[in-house]
Amino acid sequence: MKDLISLCKRRGLIFQGSEIYGGLANTWDYGPIGVELKKNIKDHWWKSFVQDRADIYGLDSAILLNPRVWEASGHVGCFNDYMMDCRKCKGRFRADKLIEESMIAADQAAEVGGWSKEQMEGYIAEQGLKCPECGAQDFTELRQFNLMFQTHQGVVADSTTAIYLRPETAQGIFLNFRNIMNTLRPRLPFGVGQIGKAFRNEITPGNFIFRTREFEQMEMEYFCAPEESLQHYDAWRRFCMDWLADIGLKAENLRMRDHSEDELSHYSKATSDIEYKFPFGWGELWGIAHRGDYDLTQHQTFSGQDMHYQDPQSNQKFVPHVIEPSLGVDRLLLAVLADAYDEEEVNGETRSVLRLHPRIAPIKVAVLPLSKKLNDKGLAVYQQLQKHLVCDFDTTQSIGKRYRRQDEIGTPLCVTIDFETLEDGAVTIRERDSMAQTRVSLSELLHALQAKLAI
Ligand code: GAP
Repeated sequence: MKDLISLCKRRGLIFQGSEIYGGLANTWDYGPIGVELKKNIKDHWWKSFVQDRADIYGLDSAILLNPRVWEASGHVGCFNDYMMDCRKCKGRFRADKLIEESMIAADQAAEVGGWSKEQMEGYIAEQGLKCPECGAQDFTELRQFNLMFQTHQGVVADSTTAIYLRPETAQGIFLNFRNIMNTLRPRLPFGVGQIGKAFRNEITPGNFIFRTREFEQMEMEYFCAPEESLQHYDAWRRFCMDWLADIGLKAENLRMRDHSEDELSHYSKATSDIEYKFPFGWGELWGIAHRGDYDLTQHQTFSGQDMHYQDPQSNQKFVPHVIEPSLGVDRLLLAVLADAYDEEEVNGETRSVLRLHPRIAPIKVAVLPLSKKLNDKGLAVYQQLQKHLVCDFDTTQSIGKRYRRQDEIGTPLCVTIDFETLEDGAVTIRERDSMAQTRVSLSELLHALQAKLAI
């Protein structure tokens, strides 16, 4: 993880947030290379979950919602974690996480999701859990903590103007269910997907971009008839797993875990997490939840608006059920980086390489003239290629150093211009993974690159 974080900074993928002011803990900025990678991941999700599907629509809803939304959704009452402080070192911890870690260390099944305050306090006392920072056995009582960020709308900061930054993008979709029904008149089953920022005042953010207080989600709500909902739930679980393989994640680093009854969220009838084997251990990557008719029914009750769907064939009226695959962009980006990161010995030196799938690689092709005298020729080749592919043009330092730089940001192909190019009109394509080199004529270059990238 240390090597990955240092590569991210060195190569302009991810920088610490507010760095020149000493930073703001657990905030991160995506640099010029990172923002391309993030955009490619989001674009691929959008294509697979919205554009390629006749049954799914896109949406971009507001971050600030009427505060009643969060009462209806259950977030005001239930979106809480239990926290406790160490009296000695003043460290603050999420009780469920400390208990889970202790259970994993004891080789027990670690499912604490539905535990009550008493159950957690009982376990902590019985097992004599110690502070992971200082080793003391002196915790405060467990306190509930709501994870929503509160702010104020307007100029007067009194309680009547209190609003929340959305902790998930999903609610914006439920609020627009009627708008989409009334304007596009879709038939069930259909889905609505959106990508956007979410905010949670996490008690223990950390592990780089795995858990942060500001992050992006890619969520899709799939509305369906109640009797077909389990079938759709199963299909989406498979679809999501296949999609992760499609962007290049290794099967051995992925697993599906079904939530037990007492672990389910307040709204969910069934939930599975796709977990990824991060450098610090297995962690949730993608939640796929069967939310039943909970959200639409709650919004119907709280807003007084009708959320029924009328089947055009049977004329039957019902509130649709919902299947929700919900994925964090930043968390997926971390999985993608961890999966792709590799080190190998080449001529007695260590080569760091990001073996990214070409589809999501920030830069597809780097054009590298071997000598300053070839820069004009190189620039002309670059200008031709960048009309079709995201390219880089790099003329500084030795060719070996330039290859290493491109390897570290995952560029699948480099094109080298040498003096022979001026004579025979051919260039060398060098492949990131095998380092194999092939000579190709300039007239064939674009075609050859596209064939190798296969995107
Ligand atoms: N709408 C359902 C929902 O938000 P969730 O399991 O709380 O469900 C879904 O979140 C996904 O969002 C997670 O699987 C994870 O990928 C991402 N996520 C959640 N909290 C996060 C955080 N604090 N930092 C980064 N990503 C987070």
